[in-house]
Amino acid sequence: MQLLRVVASAPAKIILFGEHFVVYGEPAIVMAIDKRAYASAEIRKDKRIYINSADLGMSGFFEGENFHEERGSQAARRTLEPLKITVQKVLERSKRNVGISVEVRSGIPVAAGLGSSAAVATAVAVAVGRVLDLELSKEEIFHVSYEAERYVHGTPSGIDPTISTYGGVLLYRKDKGFSQIRVKGEIPLVIGDTGVKRSTGDLVANVHEVSKQYPSVIKPLLKIGGKIALRAVEALETGDLHTLGELMNINHGLLCAVSVSDVSLERLIYAARGADALGAKLTGAGGGGCMIALAEPDKLVRVVAAIESVGGKAFVVRMADEGVRIED
Ligand code: PMV
Repeated sequence: MQLLRVVASAPAKIILFGEHFVVYGEPAIVMAIDKRAYASAEIRKDKRIYINSADLGMSGFFEGENFHEERGSQAARRTLEPLKITVQKVLERSKRNVGISVEVRSGIPVAAGLGSSAAVATAVAVAVGRVLDLELSKEEIFHVSYEAERYVHGTPSGIDPTISTYGGVLLYRKDKGFSQIRVKGEIPLVIGDTGVKRSTGDLVANVHEVSKQYPSVIKPLLKIGGKIALRAVEALETGDLHTLGELMNINHGLLCAVSVSDVSLERLIYAARGADALGAKLTGAGGGGCMIALAEPDKLVRVVAAIESVGGKAFVVRMADEGVRIED
């Protein structure tokens, strides 16, 4: 049945272990969280691709090669372009020659390491696919969203669109795919947002520079990153929070070694550790953005307060089992 308007949503994520190292083929662990991006799609009477992002205060339409901004500056084009790519890829698959209007709403902090761009792209792909009466497989949803991610930063590992598509907790390897991790019990986590925006692409490029300059030093370090992730799978499957916390601290040390932490993150990480967190590390690309802290359930409030006392914005997160989905 052809629907007039479809709403889809997809989860944000945190990388528990292995960010950056995953770009070099090492395994990483990623968890979908209970913060979602929502996208609605409608077919238009003209051939335009219209995109409105309420949270970013940007809207406009693409017509052929041209972009006409409605709200926001010309910079809106660069921000909205990945979503246009997503819509175009789905339109190509549907073989329909119609225009589409997309509206995006998301409570996920932007450019903070929580995978907001992939969550939005995945939700858009599914909403547009459904409104065009097209059943996209999960693999196709991933591929379409990955193209948008490539526009945002040239060499993504694919971890963000994968978790937004499938949800849960995954062991992910670039080019090798992923497997679901069966987590025992809850993973009590706090996210601390430094409020410092940064570019994932620039940070990935920085790590590339360091690894080119000191290959014999950095290569083994990347391998250790992979070993930490594999050891953490065991800890997740047995619900061993103490080991997980220690592994998080070791992983963070490696991320410092490749220069992706900064003073805004360190402040929050040390505040969390000082408030009896079992472990704390940056999550995502680093250079600002977010950190995560693991704590016994009865210490979560204390960790939130400690992070906020040094200027971070903190909240408790839970795992989200479900990936992208159509909303009623
Ligand atoms: O999207 P972010 O900022 O959470 O970072 C993605 C994780 C990286 O490993 C740094 C990059 C990638 O493509 O895997």
